[in-house]
Amino acid sequence: MRMYDLITKKKHGKALSEAEISYMIDGYVKDAIPDYQMAAMLMAICFSGMTEEETTALTKAMAASGDTMDLSAIAGVKVDKHSTGGVGDKTTLICAPIVAACGAKVAKMSGRGLGHTGGTIDKLESIPGFKAVIPQEKFFETVRACGLSLIGQTGNLAPADKKLYALRDVTATVDSLPLIASSIMSKKLAAGSDAILLDVKTGSGAFMKTEADAIALARAMVAIGEGAGKRTVALVTDMDVPLGRAIGNSLEVAESIAVLKGEGPKDLTEVSLTLAAHMLFLAGRGDLAACRRAAEESVAKGTALDRLCAMVRAQGGDDAVLRDPSKFPEAMAMTEIRANDSGYITAMDAEKIGETAVVLGAGRERKDSVIHPAAGIVLRKKYGERVEKGESIAALYTDNTMAFREAERMYRSAVGIGAEAPARRPLIYAQVTKDGVARFEEAGA
Ligand code: URA
Repeated sequence: MRMYDLITKKKHGKALSEAEISYMIDGYVKDAIPDYQMAAMLMAICFSGMTEEETTALTKAMAASGDTMDLSAIAGVKVDKHSTGGVGDKTTLICAPIVAACGAKVAKMSGRGLGHTGGTIDKLESIPGFKAVIPQEKFFETVRACGLSLIGQTGNLAPADKKLYALRDVTATVDSLPLIASSIMSKKLAAGSDAILLDVKTGSGAFMKTEADAIALARAMVAIGEGAGKRTVALVTDMDVPLGRAIGNSLEVAESIAVLKGEGPKDLTEVSLTLAAHMLFLAGRGDLAACRRAAEESVAKGTALDRLCAMVRAQGGDDAVLRDPSKFPEAMAMTEIRANDSGYITAMDAEKIGETAVVLGAGRERKDSVIHPAAGIVLRKKYGERVEKGESIAALYTDNTMAFREAERMYRSAVGIGAEAPARRPLIYAQVTKDGVARFEEAGA
């Protein structure tokens, strides 16, 4: 077999066989296939696409390219969750303890922030003392004792994806549906859970800007998960507007705690409870309505917050800040952005707002940038809300006051104020299962 012939085949729009895909991934991980040939293949895939069978074969080859996590030593159904990335998306911090409090297990590897999107591990590391890198035995022990553990990616999980992702990043080949689907699902398969809930974001702050593209990605990933023998469901949710009101690491932990106390913003609470109910459903804890009731009860009784505190303590963190978020170390400076006009908030570009948070220090501008745990934005006014001239529309927090000017300019360019109240937007668009796509209302949740 020769890589040259495989590139030619894909260039002409033909499907690669499972053996050809294995040869290509194996050779690339072992450095037998050079970057320039793989770059040509990636571009050919961008133009020619892949069939469902090819995408599944690519995912399996990538998942098998390194270590795979065997979670069988933990009793019970282990359910994973993946978000395709968003701004203000702290749902893992809320869903995982809810699911644990309701009797399923979450043994989850999470990521760090990427570009304008935040990452669960950066958020957790804003809790003083919290360790996201722990030995495997401690990870298992924490899941057994608390029902959940959230850790950073360990070991040599899907090294093919790591190498391919870096190459895609510099060859303009990130935005290809089979490449995104196989990248995400290879890591999910290698991470070893029994069931997977995918939260596929759509809108200005998401990879998939349109609902149709998000549904297509969701379908591809559900087909891969089910094909690999994992119960997999996807929800397509809104990321045109940031989720909740807090963006930035400790600010988002504090807002997650508010949701777990039943005092959080409506949009974040609704999306989190819906995701948690679907995770419980996938874990076999009853029908969706029963799972939703159980999720709500775990918030009302405080058992979900107890689980989060227990996990944080087990992983070395100080849970005093969870019991009382006012104890979080504060940013060195804060400023309010005031409305130049009266009216309604008619637009909030989630991507630009995420980039504003990065400028304030909540994310990384370069790979080696240091995150400021307390930096970020509190959205005083959100999409659809009334604002009077001179009122604050957002509070910016940073340890670097030099960033305020640029951040304010960026924030203002992301937000529109108009005379008329805008149309309401759905929070959740569709549910995608192996049986097809259902508009969310029709899914009965
Ligand atoms: N997230 C991933 O892990 N991979 C992609 O290709 C895109 C988003």
